[in-house]
Amino acid sequence: MQHSFKDRVVLVTGSAFGIGRASALAFAKAGAHVILADRDADTGTLYMIQEAGGVATQIPCDIADREAVSGLFFNILKTHGRLDHAFNNAGIEGLQGLTHEYPEEEFDRVIGINLKGTWNCMQQELTIMSKQGYGSIVNNSSVAGLVGFANAAAYVTSKHGVVGLTKATALEYALQGIRVNAVCPGIIKTPMIDRATGKQKEVEQHYAEMEPVGRLGQPEEVAQAVLWLCSEAASFVTGQALAVDGGWVAK
Ligand SMILES: NC(=O)c1ccc[n+]([C@@H]2O[C@H](COP(=O)([O-])OP(=O)(O)OC[C@H]3O[C@@H](n4cnc5c(N)ncnc54)[C@H](O)[C@@H]3O)[C@@H](O)[C@H]2O)c1
Repeated sequence: MQHSFKDRVVLVTGSAFGIGRASALAFAKAGAHVILADRDADTGTLYMIQEAGGVATQIPCDIADREAVSGLFFNILKTHGRLDHAFNNAGIEGLQGLTHEYPEEEFDRVIGINLKGTWNCMQQELTIMSKQGYGSIVNNSSVAGLVGFANAAAYVTSKHGVVGLTKATALEYALQGIRVNAVCPGIIKTPMIDRATGKQKEVEQHYAEMEPVGRLGQPEEVAQAVLWLCSEAASFVTGQALAVDGGWVAK
């Protein structure tokens, strides 16, 4: 079902590729004015939205940089005076490795973007939304926010942290008309996964076989869950970490 976001102001971080791009396109198709915030100044998403007759504004931003994040929200408020929905999606996979050998700088980088970067954005979003008295936020966690994966402790920790942040803030702002939820995708065919598979068909096939549904997910399938969670159709849903994972965590 297509939810209407007509004239809503929606922020999508990490909008240049993958799940962020698919979500930004879906929000724009549903009538939103989408704010595209990515550290990569790639204009592909903006172009695709405009080509399809949608409306978007691109504001480059590294979510790990608090000053840049302040600038992003200053810009949003200056132009729109409000923020209706936010999808905090930007994230990195980080290096793989055993914990006792893992470089400290890399641990800090993964936590700094995936967890603190999400928190940086949420502080601003919740400041705006609590003044408005409404709003909904979706954070992008992962199945790695629900179960453990070896050789990925930094990523797993950051994504479990995002689930914790989602639950705690959902409780803090529930009486103010603000809902906060998370999506927890399984293996989704995006540039992040292409980097992991090296685009080798046999590796991709191996990943597909790890999914109970026998295939990788598409970014558009996560986008649909994000739109639903943001929409009024999910008006009684808050503090949830929704697996969009082809059955992964049911194993
Ligand atoms: N693809 C998967 O299988 C999968 C599974 C579970 C969770 N996720 C999560 O979904 C989110 C999106 O993943 P994806 O697969 O689309 O990744 P991707 O690498 O394809 O795209 C990520 C986007 O985020 C941007 N980004 C990265 N760091 C940023 C920063 N500091 N500031 C602003 N933008 C930044 C990148 O430039 C890129 O456009 C991530 O949080 C990821 O952890 C992905």
